Amino acid sequence: MRKKVVLAIACCAVLVLVAGIALSAESVKYAIHYPAGYRTWAHVKSMVIQQGHPLYETFGGIHHIYANSKALEAMKTGALYPDGSILVFDLLEAKTENNAVTEGPRKMLYVMQKSAIKFAVTGGWGFGGFKDDSKDRSDIDPRTACFACHEERKQNDFVFTNYR
Ligand code: HEC
Repeated sequence: MRKKVVLAIACCAVLVLVAGIALSAESVKYAIHYPAGYRTWAHVKSMVIQQGHPLYETFGGIHHIYANSKALEAMKTGALYPDGSILVFDLLEAKTENNAVTEGPRKMLYVMQKSAIKFAVTGGWGFGGFKDDSKDRSDIDPRTACFACHEERKQNDFVFTNYR
């Protein structure tokens, strides 16, 4: 009897260990790097999301979208984004003063990074976020927090923005 209990505990311990390893492998798999130098990339567009907009809770403020050279090429030609493409959604608070809307502090830096095989479960895109001005990755599940929405843009390689 005692042996059985010990065996059962040992089995549980092994299961917990395996699950732990699988989870950390998963987060490594989804690791997105801080997009160093993105402010010098092509600026694609800007938008102000105000109170009353359905996305205000999450994306309220002013945001700018940037594309690195690989992503820009695909965006312009409508081709599938090649591996190495990076898109940035730079979200700042919007301050309204004197009938003008200006940038406030940064709220979040959202990143999409293409690597077709590595991120196959989320359409070939890795999704990540960096809170405020920190370069520390924010703890978000890309599948539920990002892909659930971007999935509707499947016909455009999961990207909302087009180049004009
Ligand atoms: C509720 C829907 C929704 C969710 C959830 C969402 N996005 Fe988006 N995302 C959008 C929309 C809409 C745009 C286009 C915004 C515009 O037109 O300026 C966009 C644009 C972007 C862009 C610029 C490229 C593009 O597709 O136009 C990036 C990068 C991005 N999102 C990253 C993320 C990341 C990372 C997450 C998860 C943390 C996320 N998004 C979650 C709706 C969403």
